[in-house]
Amino acid sequence: MTDTGSPKPALRSRAWFDNPANVDMTALYLERYLNYGISLEELRSGKPIIGIAQTGSDLSPCNRHHLVLAERVREGIREAGGLAIEFPVHPIQETGKRPTAGLDRNLAYLGLVETLYGYPIDGVVLTIGCDKTTPACLMAAATVNIPAIALSVGPMLNGWHKGERTGSGTIVWKARQLLAAGEIDDDQFIRLVASSAPSTGYCNTMGTATTMNSLCEALGMSLPGSAAIPAPYRDRQEVSWRTGKRIVDMVHEDLKPSDILTREAFHNAIRVNSAIGGSTNAPIHLAAIARHVGVDLPLKDWETEGHKVPLLVNLQPAGEYLGEDYYRAGGVPAVVNQLMGQGLIHEGAMTVNGRTMGDNCRGVEIEDEAVIRPFDRPLMEDAGFIVLSGNLFDAAVMKTSVISPEFRYRYLSNPDDPNAFEGPAIVFDGPEDYHQRIDDPALAITPETVMFMRGAGPVGYPGAAEVVNMRPPAYLITEGVSALPCIGDGRQSGTSGSPSILNASPEAAAMGGLALLETGDRVRIDLNKGSVDVLIADEELAERRRNLEAAGGYRYPASQTPWQAIQRAVVGQMDTGAILEGAEQFQRIAQTKGLPRDSH
Ligand code: FES
Ligand code: MG
Repeated sequence: MTDTGSPKPALRSRAWFDNPANVDMTALYLERYLNYGISLEELRSGKPIIGIAQTGSDLSPCNRHHLVLAERVREGIREAGGLAIEFPVHPIQETGKRPTAGLDRNLAYLGLVETLYGYPIDGVVLTIGCDKTTPACLMAAATVNIPAIALSVGPMLNGWHKGERTGSGTIVWKARQLLAAGEIDDDQFIRLVASSAPSTGYCNTMGTATTMNSLCEALGMSLPGSAAIPAPYRDRQEVSWRTGKRIVDMVHEDLKPSDILTREAFHNAIRVNSAIGGSTNAPIHLAAIARHVGVDLPLKDWETEGHKVPLLVNLQPAGEYLGEDYYRAGGVPAVVNQLMGQGLIHEGAMTVNGRTMGDNCRGVEIEDEAVIRPFDRPLMEDAGFIVLSGNLFDAAVMKTSVISPEFRYRYLSNPDDPNAFEGPAIVFDGPEDYHQRIDDPALAITPETVMFMRGAGPVGYPGAAEVVNMRPPAYLITEGVSALPCIGDGRQSGTSGSPSILNASPEAAAMGGLALLETGDRVRIDLNKGSVDVLIADEELAERRRNLEAAGGYRYPASQTPWQAIQRAVVGQMDTGAILEGAEQFQRIAQTKGLPRDSH
């Protein structure tokens, strides 16, 4: 590379566009990038080339507004002296992608790693939004480790129906109960659900999208105050321009993901997740990002670092409000400031603006205490996750902030043992089995039943589907039982308020203990001990295992696409991020692997 003679690091794009030692290749590279109207002069100017990793498309409506915002990002990049080059990221849309968007996170990750590493890109703006787009982009930025800044597309405006807020996803789970109980018809059901999506943007509840965009900011990877801005607001355009300006400076400062994504930053994110009532998908995605950047983040950290943190943000599904309210009340910086007051934030953690988390958030006031509570008046104490284990799985998580008073009273107010309960298991093998049988009276489901969903993990589904939150049979709903304990090796939508035990690892398809469970077995859940056990003897379990192995193991549907088969062969379990095992050995490749070879 050309030595610029300045203390700034040499730009990797110079190896393509301005390499005197290899002028025949430089000519080849330059020639084709002129195609869209960019000039030789610009390409050879030594300005940083800034990628805009575009996740928006017609197939990805949650992120589609990024197609508009990218114009403002470009203006910021140009103004700061960079050149913008926009390119597509493999689309991931949470609700539209079959069999589950969970299958595609690692695929988008792989594609983005190749793009960032194999092309002349000095820094990148990651356009994030819908659930898996955020972790996919952050995982890739962590692996490649060139300067990177995330730009959230922002939530939709609040949904409304007959004067009440209707939140993405959350209204679906509620409307399904109304439909099952015969209180609304099919057309009313669809209209009620559609009312929750009034504008461009991602889910307006504290689902996985708002969670992951908030945690991205809490990790220090997006500009302070930017995560919560609703997609259509003018402030969203403004922060897009600022993000474009800032990434150019980050390239000059050589401020990389590895400088920001430290263990302290992950612990900040875990605590913010508790305070916002964030999604149970967050532990999977943060584990994946941490492994790709080489930070040790065991699942147990979610309980030790996060469980004792109170719930401060009053957003659905744990609370009442939606995205616009969250932004007006102060968003992530107001939450961080409350936690800082209690010493719960590593204030020295670096962020993309070149300042620390403490400096960014210190003194940021709550603007509406109905939406963001002050630390001393929380919505709920000890609102983080607990991590459970036992003879059915080694690890699973439970979001305590969505345990309703009614559920708590019914199951957890046993005077003899206030956090434990026992009941008979009903086992479903995949959501088709559940949908087919749930209302069959022959199942004889009672309020004491514990419902299990298996075959829904990274290998079994494949991709780990959000199918563990299951409504009770219609006859119980009409009797006023709106939730039963659900346990499974799949995931649960962050928009669901079900008090489920999720992400059980290892999954049934990997011959975890869930594979051995039978309908009618008695199960004991003890939230104090953090245990879930089937109450049968070890010898009996061993016998069942031998029989199942002899019969060829736990059965799940065959792969339908090449990627399903490839991912199944190498994907890990959810407690360790469900990443492509082996990929984590490729870290900071822009620094550790040099440049890729010339192309011709
Ligand atoms: Fe895309 Fe919720 S479905 S953000
Ligand atoms: Mg989801």
